[in-house]
Amino acid sequence: MEIIVRDNADQMSRSAATVVARVLNSKPNAVLGLATGSTPLGLYKELIRMHKDEGLDFSQVTTFNLDEYVGLTKKHPQSYHYFMHENLFKHINIPTQNIYIPSGTTDNYEAFCEWYEDQIERCGGIDLQILGIGSDGHIAFNEPTSSLGSRTRIKTLAKQTIDDNARFFDSAEEVPIYAITMGVGTILEARKLLLLANGRAKAAAVAAAVEGPVTSMITASALQLHHEAMAIVDREAASSLRMLEYYEWIQAKMPDAP
Ligand code: GLP
Repeated sequence: MEIIVRDNADQMSRSAATVVARVLNSKPNAVLGLATGSTPLGLYKELIRMHKDEGLDFSQVTTFNLDEYVGLTKKHPQSYHYFMHENLFKHINIPTQNIYIPSGTTDNYEAFCEWYEDQIERCGGIDLQILGIGSDGHIAFNEPTSSLGSRTRIKTLAKQTIDDNARFFDSAEEVPIYAITMGVGTILEARKLLLLANGRAKAAAVAAAVEGPVTSMITASALQLHHEAMAIVDREAASSLRMLEYYEWIQAKMPDAP
């Protein structure tokens, strides 16, 4: 995995936006996999700025979101539909019909999950998947012990995730218990993966994901199996990495690499 350490969250977001822009500039009809949570907010802000100031074009882009809470309608302020609309989609020129987000209110989850996987395939697969990481090392809502070959399905959230995400709700009791999420296997099929993490609270999860064994206990560790996975993290999230000096050495030597 390529590890890039930035001094702070702002720099992390700017570097991530550069990666996204590079993909869009070389493939204007790229398929992006998108994540929610507080981590990618700076990235989305920067993409909006690039769209407004530099004409970054989303008119041919298709997006697939990783996950959604079961039971929350699109209009619920804590739904990932609402989050994506408010924090990205309403500010850029992406056609509405090109936006895919798992439904939290379908009456047939099994059929929906199958349909979602089919749509990703029909669109040619995901070119770049953005990922955050939960404090228990999960990606999307693939909680510890999720199969590393899993596909889009319903997951029961771990207590830790409910507690972490309670800050967005009035109380922990209001956090949904189930979510619909792309599987680890679905995520691994994207052509490129970009994991973002900032803050000290993510340091242990990042170290386990990047340097620990590949294990379903830390689903982000599955990124080690991907040939084009990159992690951009800030200094705090990088603080438990044993090989930190090596990653920085690689970056410093990059301009002279043969
Ligand atoms: C949720 C989302 C994940 C996200 C994680 C971390 O569990 N399903 O996709 O990575 O939260 O969120 P945050 O970036 O707010 O720490």
